[in-house]
Amino acid sequence: MRFLRRGHPLLKMAIFSLVAMVIGTVVSLWIDWFPVQASTAADDIDTLYDVLLIASVPVFVLVMAVAIYSVTAFKAKPGDMSDGAPIHGNTRLEVIWVTIPFIMVSAAAIYGWIVLDDIEAKQPNTMIVDVRGQQFAWDFTYPDEGKVKSNQLYLPVNRPVEFRVTTDDVLHDFWVPEFRLKTDAVPGLTTKFRATPSKTGTYNVVCAELCGIGHSTMRNTVRVLPEKDFDAWLAKQQGSEADGGAAAAGGDMTAAGRDLFTGDGGCTACHTLADAESVGALGPALDELAADAEKYGKQEGQSPEEYVKTAIVDPNAFLVPNFSEGVMPENFKETLSAEEIDTLVKYLLTVGGGDKG
Ligand code: CUA
Repeated sequence: MRFLRRGHPLLKMAIFSLVAMVIGTVVSLWIDWFPVQASTAADDIDTLYDVLLIASVPVFVLVMAVAIYSVTAFKAKPGDMSDGAPIHGNTRLEVIWVTIPFIMVSAAAIYGWIVLDDIEAKQPNTMIVDVRGQQFAWDFTYPDEGKVKSNQLYLPVNRPVEFRVTTDDVLHDFWVPEFRLKTDAVPGLTTKFRATPSKTGTYNVVCAELCGIGHSTMRNTVRVLPEKDFDAWLAKQQGSEADGGAAAAGGDMTAAGRDLFTGDGGCTACHTLADAESVGALGPALDELAADAEKYGKQEGQSPEEYVKTAIVDPNAFLVPNFSEGVMPENFKETLSAEEIDTLVKYLLTVGGGDKG
């Protein structure tokens, strides 16, 4: 073992690589890669990632360390134009560097399959939620809970959920990072995943597939509630077809409108409105809406109220200059009740009154 002699370049390279591998692995495990764990699958998935880090970071760092060390230590001397020594294959080395990765990759695949099979297992008392993506918003239907529809995802804690994901237009991807699970929304298909929320709170719903100009705004939240709060929300939704809008919020039209704008309507992603503290820029700003509705309404032969209502339920009927067709969701006439739309119209004309408001 000639290279074990002190000061031999190969010994130095081995020590350099070993130190780099230890540092790389410690740093990769020390970094907190993930948000809070809010589903029963999160712990298993985080453990899986840790195992993958332990398996892959040392290999990556070893290869990089050997390459970087070799580039500096074994560089040709200035003026040395001779060829390097001819080296033929080394069967033993090749068998080793094929076999070890083969075993590692196979083991990771089997481990991943076991974890996936476990977290995807059918559970009793599963609630189905239909998730529909469109450019650039999500909406949610609870087919077994009176077909309640909402632009805001609510879930009860500790109850298994099966998401059935579809899309009205292009590819999207329904992702809740805190649940650690996602699935593509594919035109013509219904894709599914199961998750059991394990912690109450508000988490992110993200579109994880580039789907057009508004992709980065295609975000929403999921509110995981204690079961009785979820049931109360569901009951309110089932009742709100009859008495939604201002009545549901105790008659305070501005508060009710703001709730719709910031919550179930999901309007804040795309519209700027000071009263709702939103700064979206994908759709027209609404702080001067009263004046705009007067102006454009006159062009269209509509009252300001009619103009705003049309803009919500049939957004492509009239386009504000410099804004494109097909950006605003076209399903608000289905997801909001007539009373809710009226509330929203009154609210927007009130808070969008500029100086007068
Ligand atoms: Cu939808 Cu990105």
